[in-house]
Amino acid sequence: MSFSIPFINGRDDNWRVRAADVIPGGSSTGSKQPATMYGTRALDAAVPSHFARAEGCTVFAPDGRRYIDCTMALGAVAIGYADGAVTRAVQHAASNGNVTGLPHTLEVEVAERLVEVIPCAEQVRFLRTGAEANAAAIRLARAATSREHIIACGYFGWLDWNSDADGVPADTRQHLTMVPFDDVIALEAAIVEHASTLAAVIVEPLIHHVASRAWLASARAACDRVGAVLIFDEIKTAFRMRTGGIQELLDVTPDLTTVGKAMANGYPLAAVVGRAGVMQAAARTWISSTAAAESTGLAAAKAVLDWHDRVDVPARLTLAGGLIQQIIGDALDESPWVGVRAEGPPQMWRFVADVPERLDAVVAACARFGVLVKRGAYQFAAIAHDQNALDVIQAAMPQVMKALLPGPRRID
Ligand SMILES: Cc1ncc(COP(=O)(O)O)c(C=O)c1O
Repeated sequence: MSFSIPFINGRDDNWRVRAADVIPGGSSTGSKQPATMYGTRALDAAVPSHFARAEGCTVFAPDGRRYIDCTMALGAVAIGYADGAVTRAVQHAASNGNVTGLPHTLEVEVAERLVEVIPCAEQVRFLRTGAEANAAAIRLARAATSREHIIACGYFGWLDWNSDADGVPADTRQHLTMVPFDDVIALEAAIVEHASTLAAVIVEPLIHHVASRAWLASARAACDRVGAVLIFDEIKTAFRMRTGGIQELLDVTPDLTTVGKAMANGYPLAAVVGRAGVMQAAARTWISSTAAAESTGLAAAKAVLDWHDRVDVPARLTLAGGLIQQIIGDALDESPWVGVRAEGPPQMWRFVADVPERLDAVVAACARFGVLVKRGAYQFAAIAHDQNALDVIQAAMPQVMKALLPGPRRID
């Protein structure tokens, strides 16, 4: 199968090549870079590099090819692309002057709604990205406790405080101790070691699987014992696993929580929410951004919160994600020689591979037959994954598996 590369207005329409020329890594978002999405198959003609339009759970590439998307904007879209209610709310906010020198009433309304649905939330500060929300939570914890050390488990965004990337000063992480996921003993030991200087414990309550209640409860008890702030990063899990996040599911309440992604169905909005006693530290430190409470993101969040009032969104995601995971997982299981499995909670599952290159081949073959998945965690479910989407995936999988056959019948 060959693909022609069209020209538009005399310009090469190979977006992958053009992007590589002007954008380091090919995309400003790490997980959207072709090498991250497709591994060794990043240059295959079958895998899309860019989209031109998206609706429901369908993504249209610039050349017109369409895909049932299982990546759903890295979990930022849990309702569906271009959802009518969200889009109308955003258009209304945009056409009424999205921002002025005064805060919009939506900032208050959405803050009130978050206080209603997130167990730990008594107060709210909005930001634009998850990384910012986490940096704000850390700032609040340090200001509230007048201490510096942080114990952490998870990914919290690209900012310096938790990064060991090139360009971060070596001593930045001297106040940070990383601990393994869901390991009560390791967490207890780290807390004992840093007890007198510990400002906060920040954890993702789901990494590949939901954390045990014992781990989160021991973090809660130990933070209380030493006077540290407990923070849950629920950027991926709130409005997905439960409306109020894993804290609602497991009934362990942190002091602060960060939320983002599915909260605004793809519009840039994040927040740090939590106990008033800790949130009030915002008055003594400095957390602020010009566009923090710009109204289109808030309007999108309000429309998403309305969705959660009308429909049990997490239950629908469990159902749709479970069926997708089953269709893809069963097809892969029938050919154990591929050595790729579908694992994890249905709302956000992932591939696990014995040989990474085989997973790259699976992802490329899925794209060839109209199903967009990525090699890394996670594949995210959306309300828009309807019967038609399931039928397309069901019809694609036998072809995907045939394309993966070794030997002369191999077509990839
Ligand atoms: C758990 C978690 N925290 C924080 C972030 C950072 O969010 P953002 O990319 O919006 O800065 C992410 C992003 O993937 C995340 O998954």
